[in-house]
Amino acid sequence: MQTSPFPPPSKYLQEEEGLTQEEKTIMSSLPSEKGWVLSHLYQYQGFWHTTRNLQGVIACQLHFQAHDSDLLLVTTPKSGTTWLKAIMFAIMNRMRYPCSQHPLLTKNPHDLVPFLEFKLYIDNQIPDVTAFIDPRLFSTHLSYVSLPNSVKESNSKVVYLCRNPRDSFISLWHFANKLRPKTLGPLSLEEAFESFCRGVSLCGPFWDHVLGYWKESLESPQKVFFLKFEELKEQPTVNLRRLAEFMGYPFSQEEEREGVVDEILRLCSFDNLSNLEVNKSGKMPSGEEHKAFFRRGEVGDWVNYLTSEMVERLDSITEQKFHGSGLTF
Ligand code: A3P
Repeated sequence: MQTSPFPPPSKYLQEEEGLTQEEKTIMSSLPSEKGWVLSHLYQYQGFWHTTRNLQGVIACQLHFQAHDSDLLLVTTPKSGTTWLKAIMFAIMNRMRYPCSQHPLLTKNPHDLVPFLEFKLYIDNQIPDVTAFIDPRLFSTHLSYVSLPNSVKESNSKVVYLCRNPRDSFISLWHFANKLRPKTLGPLSLEEAFESFCRGVSLCGPFWDHVLGYWKESLESPQKVFFLKFEELKEQPTVNLRRLAEFMGYPFSQEEEREGVVDEILRLCSFDNLSNLEVNKSGKMPSGEEHKAFFRRGEVGDWVNYLTSEMVERLDSITEQKFHGSGLTF
């Protein structure tokens, strides 16, 4: 038997492999567009997903049962998910681990706080989530409309993170180019921009995703905590306190005196996490390199890439979409 000289593609680059006939039929009935990394994105319940990701979305909608004590981190792609996973994990587990022997020093945040649709329910797995001890912490990029019903109906809490559209787009474009198979060549900024503006990006339309959770956070502030990357950057201490309080893990006066808030921020800082061996050389089980999740970690890098026409177009879409919502960036 002849063996191929090339290693098999990473799991995240596989498109149709492992799909059931039923899933293939569902996908063939959905609107599709050219993908940023792989051939296709499919529109499901108004939002765009890759083939593998969509299978995970449907599986977790069918099977995930939220518990009242669950915390769910929901984010738009490239809004600082990795950062907030680390922070929320550190807040919840601060009594269990001293900072010097913390799991975050040897594990990537995505390992410690798994994505529902990209990790637990992907590849037609039905994971044994009972193995997770309450209170559980999971994450997702699902839009509000696509959230499993049990999340909406239970007393579980949602922390939502987003980021200004200019930086979100630039970060997503860089990320897509890191993930794309080399044989495809780079995705041009112009092509990606056109797709992003039309709403065709992973879990996009970006604006609809943000608005869905913004509205919920206004209607049910005890259920949805709404946070922006920029706010966390600008006032990390204040926002960490607010977040810990919402999560049900407020810092005590003694912890405040001992500087626990700053310790967590240092542990989860871009400089600290991105320089750890696990994040410099490790890979996700699906093959993405951990280092792809750490680039610059700053506000305003868009200025190095977007033309004034692009900024004008993006801003006008943002104004139009967010008009009357009270939401600004
Ligand atoms: P940039 O590409 O602008 O640098 P996500 O985790 O949702 O995939 O988002 C990735 C973005 O968050 C990247 O943005 C990445 O550099 C930034 N990031 C990762 N870890 C961070 C941290 N600890 N602090 C601040 N930003 C971080």
